[in-house]
Amino acid sequence: MAFHAVIPAAGVGKRFGTSVPKQYLALAGSCIQTHTLDRLSAMPELSRLVVAISAEDHQAHELPYAQPQRLQFVHGGCERMDSVLAGLNALQTQGAAPSDWVLVHDVARPLVRPADIRQLMSALKEDPVGGILASPVRDTMKRGSTQGIVATVDREQLWHALTPQMFRLDALRQALLVAKSEAAIVTDEASAMEHLGYQPKLVEGARDNIKITFPEDLALAELLLAEQLRTGALS
Ligand code: C5P
Repeated sequence: MAFHAVIPAAGVGKRFGTSVPKQYLALAGSCIQTHTLDRLSAMPELSRLVVAISAEDHQAHELPYAQPQRLQFVHGGCERMDSVLAGLNALQTQGAAPSDWVLVHDVARPLVRPADIRQLMSALKEDPVGGILASPVRDTMKRGSTQGIVATVDREQLWHALTPQMFRLDALRQALLVAKSEAAIVTDEASAMEHLGYQPKLVEGARDNIKITFPEDLALAELLLAEQLRTGALS
């Protein structure tokens, strides 16, 4: 049984508000994409690493990666799920088994801890479905409307969905194809699996695995990275 990684990196960072896709923004002397891919490629447990990039992206191949020979680039699509599908198709074409595990990890999450990825793999490797890294919600949660608060939501059952999200190659491919054909709104792999009636597992991961979405997240990421380096969180 093999574990592979698919890294959707074809987003243009619309919400970030810069002309440069956010994965190319500087983070501690390097860029977000280099950090993310170097962390994953340093894990020998991951057999193949497929990175889905935009067809207009001509710089992805040329970044100073630690292990460029470990990375395979394919063209992604309009939506995140199209990019993930492109990565899964590449794995399938190259002979990955239908039951192999695929860990889908956002390129915009450069701070994922290798220990959390290993925990996800060991907790779920015998699971029939798979699951995701997630962190429990800390704040009191409200549902709102233009009128004000509609309800206070019980936070005991609420989690932030992180990545990697780990599912079997063929099951995830089918789930994404169904979601696409039914125009279901799926913002992560787990929601595509849920749409088919599966119940993915939640594996608690560190909350510093943030997704860089807005400009202010970059400064926070620099601080969190420094703390990870200081405390030896990268082994
Ligand atoms: O935009 P957002 O932060 O939600 O994107 C999550 C991840 O999906 C990012 O890693 C982004 O590069 C990727 N993505 C993609 N293809 C798209 C849209 C987003 O690979 N068409």
